[in-house]
Amino acid sequence: MSQQEQWKSKIGFILATAGSAIGLGAIWKFPYVAGTGGGGAFFFLFLAFTLILGMPLLLGEFIIGRKGQSNPINTYSKLASNPKWSIIGKIGVFTSFILLSFYSVVGGWIILYIVQIVAGGLNGLDEGRYMQLFEEIISNPFATLIAQFVFILISILVVSKGIQKGIELASKIMMPALLILFIGLVIRSLSLDGAMEGVKFLLVPDFTKLTSESILFALGQSFFTLSLGVSVMVTYASYLPRTQNLPQSAISIIILNTIIALLAGLAIFPGVFSFDLEPNAGPVLIFAVLPAVFNQMPFGMFFFLAFLILFLFAALTSAFSMIEIIVASVTKNNPKKRKKSTWIIGILIFIVGIPSCLSYGMLADVQLFNRTFFDLMDFAVSNILMPLGALLIAIFVSQKVSKDVLFTELKSGSNIGRGFFSIWYILLKYVTPIAIIIVFLDVLGLFNWIIDVFK
Ligand code: PFF
Repeated sequence: MSQQEQWKSKIGFILATAGSAIGLGAIWKFPYVAGTGGGGAFFFLFLAFTLILGMPLLLGEFIIGRKGQSNPINTYSKLASNPKWSIIGKIGVFTSFILLSFYSVVGGWIILYIVQIVAGGLNGLDEGRYMQLFEEIISNPFATLIAQFVFILISILVVSKGIQKGIELASKIMMPALLILFIGLVIRSLSLDGAMEGVKFLLVPDFTKLTSESILFALGQSFFTLSLGVSVMVTYASYLPRTQNLPQSAISIIILNTIIALLAGLAIFPGVFSFDLEPNAGPVLIFAVLPAVFNQMPFGMFFFLAFLILFLFAALTSAFSMIEIIVASVTKNNPKKRKKSTWIIGILIFIVGIPSCLSYGMLADVQLFNRTFFDLMDFAVSNILMPLGALLIAIFVSQKVSKDVLFTELKSGSNIGRGFFSIWYILLKYVTPIAIIIVFLDVLGLFNWIIDVFK
């Protein structure tokens, strides 16, 4: 077997893994859904799901990844001594491929906004015009396709350099920059008049606003934002030495991810309230409302530019992990094949992503199963493939790998006791699968039906 590259440092692994986790989920989706879905109540729920369901699965992926020391397709068949189980890795590779094909569309929008600011195109417009401009930008076929390609190109250039010189190095620069500059942005935003209204909107719990929909969203969000169910965490953990403390790493990543989600909300909402804008704008919050907020501050566009660059970093470090799992699987961890494979995979992802990119313009009226291409891909990944992958991984770890092997692997590098192990095992074996099955019932429209029956 070919020799695997390893992470250079412990912190390098944590930053790269946190980079995979922190992305559109924490910075884009979390603030607008939390804001409208119960504020602090949603946040509390999200945190509970992250700890009770996300953390056990994250640790499960770490354990089998490090134990397998190989690409995910190989790891599952190796650990179960049965090639059939490679299906989990194959589903992960497929999911990642489809995911990046539309994730890169939004990555492209960020790049287009950065270009607009630098060209001075966002200065001094009135509020309504920002919304119009957003629609113009995302419906322009050439600009969006080129930007999507540039986003994938940057990912190709980094991933083709390998683990240490590519993903680890980029994450070591991008993630601390993200954290430090976000803190700066939050200080700026909290110093605005009326900022406290925004903080309340995001954090004060309103349990009456929680609906079955927002509860399920909090659950889905806790998986999506930790990149679970795709085996990217298996892949990243396969480059680890036995000395890494896995529980500690998992907790660090969860803390970092939660902090960034909170900071994103705190950078956005105080301004939205301070300037009397609409906090319930939904997905367009960052692209159409935020520029109007920054536009009213001194040096506003400079701050908005900083925000977008960080947002781009976050999206890119997530994209690296999506490409990496495919590259590791296709090359069977052979470093000699990395460069060429990364290029081919990246270009294929771009081609598959073209219809999603055009979903906001030329192909807006083309619908399959009542959805545009973009929405269909998003639905397939977030509502079907990721929960399915997560369910299979939870079953695999808890039923196909012996408890002794799991305990030994978990213990290596940490001084975790039997008590922690047992709680983790029970959560993964029973609680996580039940929660995922509830998500599936919801996808099939059966969840609300069951609730109605019991009412
Ligand atoms: N965690 C990423 C985000 O929140 O944007 C998305 C993601 C990355 C999901 C990688 C799944 C994955 F395998």
